Amino acid sequence: MIVTTGQLFKHAYGKYAVGAYNINNAEQAMGLFKGCIASQAPFIIQISKGARKYTDKRMLEAIIRAAGEIFPDAIYAVHLDHGDEATCYDCIDSGFFSSVMIDASHEPYEQNIAITKRVTDRAHAKGISVEAELGMLGGVEEDIKVEEGNACLTDPAQAEDFVKKSGCDSLACAIGTSHGAFKFKGRQSLHFEVLEKIKARLPNFPLVMHGSSSVPQDEVARINAAGGKIAGSMGVDVNEYLPAAKLGVTKINIDTDGRLVWTRVHREFFRDHPGDFDFRPPGKIFIDEYAKFIASRNVLLGSANQLADVRKSLGK
Ligand code: G3H
Ligand code: 13P
Ligand code: ZN
Repeated sequence: MIVTTGQLFKHAYGKYAVGAYNINNAEQAMGLFKGCIASQAPFIIQISKGARKYTDKRMLEAIIRAAGEIFPDAIYAVHLDHGDEATCYDCIDSGFFSSVMIDASHEPYEQNIAITKRVTDRAHAKGISVEAELGMLGGVEEDIKVEEGNACLTDPAQAEDFVKKSGCDSLACAIGTSHGAFKFKGRQSLHFEVLEKIKARLPNFPLVMHGSSSVPQDEVARINAAGGKIAGSMGVDVNEYLPAAKLGVTKINIDTDGRLVWTRVHREFFRDHPGDFDFRPPGKIFIDEYAKFIASRNVLLGSANQLADVRKSLGK
């Protein structure tokens, strides 16, 4: 059942975070649904602009529709990740997305408010939730690359003003993370002090954490042992997910970790079966490994075993 992120956040707020996982193909969709049903968790399917372009935007929608039929008990939102204004309108008009992210965080502050407000007005007219972003994460967001030095943490006073003026339903805050596999130079913690200040100014308002992959070092070691060259990677400490959730983070975005699972499975498979060229055996292994990974993340986020209660809260 497709619901809005707003509906999921109402149940999760202050208790746990809902996992938001990016998908690009059928194998990821199968693993995601399987893992969320196995762990009895609500979830958010994220589709980036790049994912919509990868095959055809209609293909991903059809895959998700089919997965919804295969797993009728699943409860999830379908969300556009890092949308620009035109893509947000396309998704709002698609009749399929229940949530969009307008990312105008690279624009001057007043512009970010104006763009977010326009998108919010159009989305709300159709009952769709809107996530916006304030502050800038380091790393690469599709066509936008933010150099480390230019990344800046969200200003709590500005966050309060932004939410009031833009009308958005949730806010992605920069609290020290960045996208991709190389987040930190050394071990670093999330900026909980910034989260606390934002929560004080925006009580009960859902916050979002991008760049939340943990970049498991055992996964990276296996990739490198099978011919990969991913050196110096570092991710978010998984033990910081729940403390962040208690401070109002209701959505935690994880994409890179799923790509690492894919890379490990395929590198090891073809290293161990150099004569094979059928992609289905490693594809099947990936689906099961990704499902296991998703279930393990849902436990850490606190969303595991919430499904029955979420259903009840929706009156279904
Ligand atoms: O924030 C970026 C997400 O990980 C999506 O990545 O734009 O390469 O699909 P992508
Ligand atoms: P990671 O690169 O840490 O997985 O972050 C994904 C993300 O924020 C998608 O919007
Ligand atoms: Zn992101």
